[in-house]
Amino acid sequence: MKEINMKEIYSNSRSERRLCEPVVDYCTKNKEKFQQFELFPRTRLMAKKGDIRVIELFAGVGGFRVGLERASKRFKTIWFNQWEPSTKQQDAYLIYMRDFNDEGSEFSNHDINTVPINEIPDSDLLCGGFPCQDYSVATTLKNSRGIEGKKGVLWWNIYNILHDKGDKAPKYLMLENVDRLLSSPAKQRGRDFAIILSSLSKLGYIVEWKVINAADYGMPQRRRRTYMVGYRKDSIIYEKLEPLLKDPVDYIINSGIEAKAFPSVEDVGDGIVKMKIGRDPAYNTVHFNENAKQNQPSPFKNSGVLIDDYCYTIDTLPQYDGPKLTLGDILLDDKDIPEEFFISKNNEKQWAYLKGAKKEKRISANGHEYIYSEGGMAFPDSIDKPSRTIITGEGGSGPSRFKHVVPSKQSGRLRRLIPIELERLNMFPDNHTAGASDLRRAFLMGNALVTGIPERLGTIINMLI
Ligand SMILES: C[S@@+](CC[C@H](N)C(=O)[O-])C[C@H]1O[C@@H](n2cnc3c(N)ncnc32)[C@H](O)[C@@H]1O
Repeated sequence: MKEINMKEIYSNSRSERRLCEPVVDYCTKNKEKFQQFELFPRTRLMAKKGDIRVIELFAGVGGFRVGLERASKRFKTIWFNQWEPSTKQQDAYLIYMRDFNDEGSEFSNHDINTVPINEIPDSDLLCGGFPCQDYSVATTLKNSRGIEGKKGVLWWNIYNILHDKGDKAPKYLMLENVDRLLSSPAKQRGRDFAIILSSLSKLGYIVEWKVINAADYGMPQRRRRTYMVGYRKDSIIYEKLEPLLKDPVDYIINSGIEAKAFPSVEDVGDGIVKMKIGRDPAYNTVHFNENAKQNQPSPFKNSGVLIDDYCYTIDTLPQYDGPKLTLGDILLDDKDIPEEFFISKNNEKQWAYLKGAKKEKRISANGHEYIYSEGGMAFPDSIDKPSRTIITGEGGSGPSRFKHVVPSKQSGRLRRLIPIELERLNMFPDNHTAGASDLRRAFLMGNALVTGIPERLGTIINMLI
């Protein structure tokens, strides 16, 4: 048997770049930002030979793009789509347009359900953090036309692009979702993920996944998300990695793309699980894990690979001994903090109450008395560790259990985090979202990803293509 030369597989003269350290240049990148949004006439960016043409869906403020462009200048985003259904003002889209103006790209600010697929340019890599929903297939098995997804369920928009573009579909995928994706819905754990995997298998993709907590790899925020990477069987990456797929355990732990980007070891537990996924999402909608008992965990472990009809899945533990950033590392000096972010002495009690442990009598809407209890939260947040996950409701001055509160660096006065600090926790350049209201900037960061993750994945993909 021919010996596999890993060095050969992963070598690429264009990317003799050490794997990105978390202390990337995001702290120093203090680009001048416009205070007002301005739109510029835009032309389609022409990719050169050797470029990796990217389309970004559900783009938000461009987390994938920020990370991929740090990984390599070869990643050229030639088209993106972003449309926020809940507001008239399209802040994320406008910010994306402004911040990436230098690079130039095509754009779309429409509900993805209304975008004709023939208007989306051909590309090499499709990336996106698709909103989390119920992914089931609407058609009954009997009437099933195969894999028609429920209308309005945004996974199927990704699927339709990959399907309808046929031979011209992107050969590579990078997708992000919440960690819950692996275990939903509660009554049929893992069904949604099985639907997604089987639809990708049908289209000829090999798919890797890993649940990654950014803080485990030195990044400043504890944010746990599922990252999927896919490559089609007619791609150069498949050609290179196909020999490695013959040993799925080694592939998941050592030699696959996610394994290279996010080193880990096998966790104690059940070991490798091999599971038939098939290529029929309609079948999985009804039958995947249909006899699961209440509270039975999902059959999907935190890492895995899908190869044709089967997936292999195993729990892994992160292995990382590089530099580590904490919440304290990204805080600004007191002089840079606007007064409204400080917590007044009058309000401190209310904050402490909301953050504190409690066990108290309450009356429900229909008049029943019940005991409400919850544990305590750190108040203020520890600045010696990576921060807790930022959520969309992080902004606004009202006291809250979930917003971060830190002691300010010089005076020790308690305060909330300002928008630049939230951007830093996701490893965006400072002021990436400037121009929108503080409340909105917090919302956008609560929706976004830690850009160091696509950066590391992009670094490996760049070595392979
Ligand atoms: C989880 S966020 C992704 C954030 C992004 N990765 C970032 O770094 O900012 C999902 C995005 O999908 C957008 N979205 C929701 N429904 C949409 C639709 N029907 N068409 C297009 N975009 C949509 C939301 O506005 C949101 O920005």
